[in-house]
Amino acid sequence: MVNICCIGAGYVGGPSSAVIAYQCHDVNVTIVDLNQARIDAWNSDNLPIYEPGLDEVVFARRGKNLFFSTDVDQAIIDADLIFVSVNTPTKKSGMGAGMAADLAYIETATRRIAQVATTSKVVIEKSTVPCRTAESMRTILEANSTKGIRFDILSNPEFLAEGTAIKDLQKPDRVLIGCLQTPEGFAAQQKLVDIYTRWIPKERVITMNLWSSELSKLAANALLAQRISSINALSAICEATGADVDEVAYACGTDSRIGPKFLKASVGFGGSCFQKDILNLVYLSEQLYLPEVAAYWKAVVTMNEYQKMRFTHRIVRTLFNTVTHKRIAMLGFAFKKDTGDTRESAAITLCSYLIQERAHVALYDPKVSAKQIKMDLTEPGVGTNEADVDKHVQICNSAYEACAGADALVIVTEWDEFKMNQLDYKRIFDSMQKPAFVFDGRLILDAPKLREIGFRVETIGKSV
Ligand code: UDX
Ligand code: ADP
Repeated sequence: MVNICCIGAGYVGGPSSAVIAYQCHDVNVTIVDLNQARIDAWNSDNLPIYEPGLDEVVFARRGKNLFFSTDVDQAIIDADLIFVSVNTPTKKSGMGAGMAADLAYIETATRRIAQVATTSKVVIEKSTVPCRTAESMRTILEANSTKGIRFDILSNPEFLAEGTAIKDLQKPDRVLIGCLQTPEGFAAQQKLVDIYTRWIPKERVITMNLWSSELSKLAANALLAQRISSINALSAICEATGADVDEVAYACGTDSRIGPKFLKASVGFGGSCFQKDILNLVYLSEQLYLPEVAAYWKAVVTMNEYQKMRFTHRIVRTLFNTVTHKRIAMLGFAFKKDTGDTRESAAITLCSYLIQERAHVALYDPKVSAKQIKMDLTEPGVGTNEADVDKHVQICNSAYEACAGADALVIVTEWDEFKMNQLDYKRIFDSMQKPAFVFDGRLILDAPKLREIGFRVETIGKSV
């Protein structure tokens, strides 16, 4: 029986390790975290993260070959392979603040492994990390290990997207495994290949050197985010010229060299990865004395900030240049549909701006809790405090409740339940102030139909 330990029971560690347990019944998987509340939630009927299909996977294997625990040391001692899936947020202070990844959690976890391990281990870097982090991990492990114990390091970055995590893990486009190009490195790599090829076709499990694997993860996210910033930059041109961004995206996407995915204009990308990973790449480029390369990638983030502000300014401008005391219904707070995650969500920027303009924001999201929304809006740097939030934000239980009496409704997250065939937009129109405005930040609504009802409609990337 192979024993796997995963350190970090978050959005990456939880689902990715649970799927290994689901696919390999003879592999024991223990997911550990220092956060007792998180582990308690993983052991309850109410899992700490919302992800379609996750409940089925966890409930099928929990207590059999899938375990959640706070006993980090025991899980390390028992494991043959250890995934390190801890958080690597952007540094808030010190050298590289605002850009570099904070590797303190990785280092703490690595030191713990070195301290408590009594047998040799394969240590797998799963968290997204700057290029050459594996080297630091290896140095720490080797400097602290007891005689006779070997540590082999692998890089196995995770490409799952939230909202489709289980599908992505069951049928990934590819799995990357990087290793040191030594006989021991190859042997360690093979152990992980043997696990993944139990359910993933061999040709989709790609092996390479450690540094390529680490950089590939940053590169893939940077390229994806760059596509969104590109289409969002075009959306500004569309609004100014009368071109339609959906038509432009379709025309470009049908070129097989470009492809149709990730060309949906939006209020701006969010999520825990895109901005963080690009800033990481920018920092790396600066460290390598490549200022032009740094500036190139930085522009992707600058464009995203611009898109968020452009949309909020459009709302204020359209509402006769003032939103003071107006009720604005915001539909959606998560950074994308099918997740309760709000990290870097465009909704936070949008909402805090509207609060600063003294609007009354009525918010509804099907999966984000009131507590989370309040936490996000009162984070340092967001620009709003608890008193502002108490005074200006109402968290509602349905889209209808949020829209009742509103001057405008704004689609911020593309939840299916906000689509034309899911909500009664005539009922919403009747309950709103007149003129009633709709701002579609996700291109999910049928503007001509809404206009027939009587709405005034403003859509990203369209002038009519
Ligand atoms: C991303 C990568 O897709 C994934 O491979 C990596 O492992 C982690 O980062 P995630 O952030 O979970 O995944 O979601 P993703 O679907 O990539 O969306 C990110 C943001 O871009 C969301 O805010 C989404 O709404 C936005 N987006 C996506 C667009 O605005 N337009 C698009 O066409 C696609
Ligand atoms: P991600 O989206 O990358 O999965 P999360 O923040 O959701 O990031 O999860 C990371 C988890 O790692 C958190 O639950 C955190 O408590 C846990 N963690 C961080 N450092 C350690 C550590 N040294 N030992 C165990 N768990 C840790």
